[in-house]
Amino acid sequence: MAGRLIVVSNRLADFHKPAAGGLAVALSGILRQRGGVWLGWSGKIVNRGKEDAQIIRTAVGNVEYLSIDLNEEEFNGYYKGYANATLWPILHHRVDLAKFDKASEKIYRLMNARFAKVLLTEIQDDDVVWVHDYHLIPLGEELRAAGKLNKVGFFLHTPLPPSAILATLPNNSSLLSSLFSYDLIGFQSQEDKRNFLNYVEWQFGKDSVEGSKVIRRGKSVVGAFPIGIDVCEFQSIAQSKTAQAMRDGMREEYSKRQLVVGVDRLDYSKGIPHRVHSFGEFLHRFPQMQRSATLIQIASPSRGEIETYADIQRELEALCGSVNGDLGELDWMPVRYIHKTLCQEELAGLYQAAKVALVTPLRDGMNLVAKEFVAAQNPYKPGVLVLSRFAGVAEQMPEALIVNPYDTESVAYAIHRALVMPLAERQERHRALLGKIKDNDLHWWCRSFLQRLTQPEFESRSIKSV
Ligand code: F6P
Repeated sequence: MAGRLIVVSNRLADFHKPAAGGLAVALSGILRQRGGVWLGWSGKIVNRGKEDAQIIRTAVGNVEYLSIDLNEEEFNGYYKGYANATLWPILHHRVDLAKFDKASEKIYRLMNARFAKVLLTEIQDDDVVWVHDYHLIPLGEELRAAGKLNKVGFFLHTPLPPSAILATLPNNSSLLSSLFSYDLIGFQSQEDKRNFLNYVEWQFGKDSVEGSKVIRRGKSVVGAFPIGIDVCEFQSIAQSKTAQAMRDGMREEYSKRQLVVGVDRLDYSKGIPHRVHSFGEFLHRFPQMQRSATLIQIASPSRGEIETYADIQRELEALCGSVNGDLGELDWMPVRYIHKTLCQEELAGLYQAAKVALVTPLRDGMNLVAKEFVAAQNPYKPGVLVLSRFAGVAEQMPEALIVNPYDTESVAYAIHRALVMPLAERQERHRALLGKIKDNDLHWWCRSFLQRLTQPEFESRSIKSV
């Protein structure tokens, strides 16, 4: 790649602390290795009226971070409103939770124009630009409108639902056609890629699609690039003192119990209440397991300023209370629900102490917890992964116990099967899973996306075609 790599995402990692959250962790690692520029929101909300955001530049090693603040109106309209109260629920098949208002949509568009304006002052002719996620769908179109002909790629970290769901979004064709300005449009799974191509054919006509290419305003290649983790790095995190202390502490505290864990952002897409119901069902169906199995559910606080997120928090607190009240004993609580963020070392320790991980979202773009759990296991005595068929990662991990998270009874049986699984079967499944996450790790993801984006197969866009 001749020019610099410029990454743009809504959330910029805090460069003074290790990053938390899927996208920020993944991109921090990549940029530290390759060098480049990263533009994003600082995470701060400031009072600056209508003036343009100031750009703060910070160089750390070979990465230059450009951060901009949001004012209250931008935060409410762009982040809290259109991105997270309109697009997020629709992308996760929750039309029932989606709110739509024209004012937020307008601010979302304005913010994308603002991100583009910052980029225009920065971008050199041979730079390659990689835009991330649903907050910034129209950014490529803004760059083209300003005459930029650089290679520009887009990666969606969330699922992309089928046409009938996308069609519920007002102005869906205008938003989704703005993706045609990108040279490469990447999705997490084959299913997402298929959904997109079907939508384009349905909305714009059969001749808009040629194989895996969209033929509108020039050509855009569409691909599935499932994101991975840095397996070696996570394995060394799992060997750190903090991780080992966590693992040993948990093993000691739960020496007579079998630990089942769930780790998620507190989000309705993660299916946490469904999971707790299934765990309760498992205890009812297998009373001999009562007192011996405990579910530890870590739910890290997320987007608490949005009503639907506050609702799910209340629902979960009540549900855990009721399962514990019904089934708990003086010396045993079936569910331990912890509403806080643990660092990666603590999580790696917890994964090692657990016999089973429940990764059972109702919908998820990928889900890196599944991959981290596998990476952290001792290959001689590995734990078992119970995995939702609706997580993008399920396409890559058929050797997990695949479940339908809506089917309480079958998840209850899968929990039991995981807890009593013979060692040889656990080892065999783990070997296959570890092989997959190593082959398709974070570096593979980044390399394959950027190689594809910088391949000469793309005709250069001319001003006419943008
Ligand atoms: O695509 C989803 C995602 O960007 C994750 O990668 C990340 O963990 C999460 O959303 C962060 O959400 P937010 O920036 O709203 O806190």
